Amino acid sequence: MIRFLPACLLFSVAITGLADDNDTDQRQGVAIALRGTPKVDGKIDDLWKSCPKHTVALPITELLKIDQKDMATATVQLLWDDRHLYALWVVNDAALSAESSDDWAQDSVELFLDQHQDKSTTYQADDAQYRVNFQGKRSGQGTGYDEADLKAVAARTKKGYRVEMSIRTHAADMKPGTVMGLELQVNDDHGSGQRDAITKWLHPEDDSWQDTSKFGTVQLK
Ligand code: BGC
Repeated sequence: MIRFLPACLLFSVAITGLADDNDTDQRQGVAIALRGTPKVDGKIDDLWKSCPKHTVALPITELLKIDQKDMATATVQLLWDDRHLYALWVVNDAALSAESSDDWAQDSVELFLDQHQDKSTTYQADDAQYRVNFQGKRSGQGTGYDEADLKAVAARTKKGYRVEMSIRTHAADMKPGTVMGLELQVNDDHGSGQRDAITKWLHPEDDSWQDTSKFGTVQLK
């Protein structure tokens, strides 16, 4: 029995280690950002290779207008340095469109950030929503949003598109151990000229643009 217990523990650690990154981070609502300064130039620096991947694939069911298997999904990796949070998005999206006049209804990705993680139910100066469409067009909202803080490069891929984002942080103390509120979203126009699907990382409701209280956590390592 004494011998059996450690073996059991080892086995469960091995299983946990094998689990998809997102399995674990979705249960805990914690995404890990590793330290590093990538060049935001459309090429994928080696720095990204060791970053955990976080999956954005939870549909907002009441707004879903297409088959769930057709909706756009993404994986996101995160890096940080003294002044920035960086995100590399790889989006699976079979049909790309920027037809809608609403930026949030075009094929695009959104990163929501609550730099003090005070989980306010309205946006304050440390809160912003950063959006980039598949063509690299930037937009955003929220009290803490300044377009000058957001740099991005987008590129088409075989299965959709890729977006590299750099967000200049202005409220958080960027150091190992720092936590901020985070949510991730993919908007999908599947061909209607409107938004046909929305997928999220954590909280599958369309409330992140005005309420930070249900965000998950990004932890700087
Ligand atoms: C939401 C939209 C909202 C927009 C406003 C998006 O994240 O999904 O419903 O109108 O943000 O910025």
